[in-house]
Amino acid sequence: MYIKVLLDEDEIPKQWYNIQPDLPKPLPPPINPATKEPIDPKALERVFAKELVRQEVSQDRWINIPEEVRDVWMAWRPTPFYRAVKLEKALGTPAKIYYKYEGVSPPGSHKPNTAVAQAWYNMKEGVKRLTTETGAGQWGSALSFGCSTFGLKSTVYMVKVSYHQKPYRRTMMQTWGAEVFPSPSDRTQTGKKILQQDPDNPGSLGISISEAVEDAVTHEDTKYTLGSVVNHVLMHQTIIGIETEKQFEIVDDYPDTIIGCVGGGSSFSGLFWPFYYDKVSKKAPKEAEFIAVEPTACPSLTRGSYTYDHGDTARFIPLVKMHTLGHDFVPAPIHAGGLRYHGDAPTLCLLVNEKRVKARAYNQVEVFEAAVLFAKTEGIIPAPEPAHAIKAVIDEAIKCKETGEEKTILFLLCGHGYFDMKAYEDFFEGKLLPYEYPEEKIKESLRRLKELYPWAEKLPY
Ligand SMILES: Cc1ncc(COP(=O)(O)O)c(C=O)c1O
Repeated sequence: MYIKVLLDEDEIPKQWYNIQPDLPKPLPPPINPATKEPIDPKALERVFAKELVRQEVSQDRWINIPEEVRDVWMAWRPTPFYRAVKLEKALGTPAKIYYKYEGVSPPGSHKPNTAVAQAWYNMKEGVKRLTTETGAGQWGSALSFGCSTFGLKSTVYMVKVSYHQKPYRRTMMQTWGAEVFPSPSDRTQTGKKILQQDPDNPGSLGISISEAVEDAVTHEDTKYTLGSVVNHVLMHQTIIGIETEKQFEIVDDYPDTIIGCVGGGSSFSGLFWPFYYDKVSKKAPKEAEFIAVEPTACPSLTRGSYTYDHGDTARFIPLVKMHTLGHDFVPAPIHAGGLRYHGDAPTLCLLVNEKRVKARAYNQVEVFEAAVLFAKTEGIIPAPEPAHAIKAVIDEAIKCKETGEEKTILFLLCGHGYFDMKAYEDFFEGKLLPYEYPEEKIKESLRRLKELYPWAEKLPY
């Protein structure tokens, strides 16, 4: 029995769900480290489009989606929803495993859901060029695609290690018209300074963000865009969860457990927020649990500190409260490039801190074992990022086998891995190590953060 659920185009959601009014506590505000006071959202308009800043702080639960944005999405949305029957069989589990697949978009992941929306709002406000950072290249490709759709130029600062690991992602961005630079680059003061101190620096998302922000604020017609972490981006992704709820209605089921990988938190939040809303508004037929999965090489949610830190290395971005490994974190060059960020979305961190969401970490060897089992049973070769979620799904399904529980498990397959064959090749050749980020490095980085802002702990948020 093969189960695949498709929806009609008119079922693409017409509104996004904004979690902010439903959080268990108000979101701690971003802080200006110079004044130690909350940032006036107006200040963010120097960096982001005005409408995106409005969405960032909005307390409206539902926000209308522009018709032009839905029109572009129609090329690949609504996305398919499957039951992983063959994986269930291979595991011998009584659990039912479902997944929503976002790899059918032109760049191959969930990222264009927000890229198209961000490009549209910027175009409407007269912006001519957008800058951004990219790790694995998924977000950079999505933004290049979004910009090409609405006739904007795009500049992408790609983490140097990924620039060399994933040359075809770079070419994909160039095909959609982007200029792409390995970061740290000599195009910005930030990049030049880092290269002077450390010419072989492999780059990090924190450094690329600093370069992209610097480029945007030093050019009149240019704004910056982010592919994860901030509230408006996570909200744009809620179309994933809203569609999934409709698909569950068709199969007459509802998830007990909802699992997603976390880099900054946008794909997982896009999936689980609508189910969270069901829960807090008492509409849910069951109490679903939410599980965020990250790499042991970048364990921000599981081993980071919940404190105020910068989202970027050069400290252009205000302080935000999140689980962090420290803004000067330089990750090991693991293949899940999209999960190598030192922090996480403040909304997700708040929910983890309030024990509404659980977090766990896996090493890349066990993650690739899970990815290969999934590819052999279900056919689709997953990107290394969602392979983390697959590992957690398999563990949960095996637990069900042991207890006899017939749980319904949902996860997000947020992208395909067809540009990640080098990672699979390294796995097959036994070159991947089960890397764990050293405790000492986390402590050092957080000690430096505390020395920098000793007052941050006493803030009333
Ligand atoms: C396919 C894929 N999944 C997940 C992520 C992680 O980001 P987020 O947690 O915002 O979904 C990335 C980031 O680049 C990605 O490319």
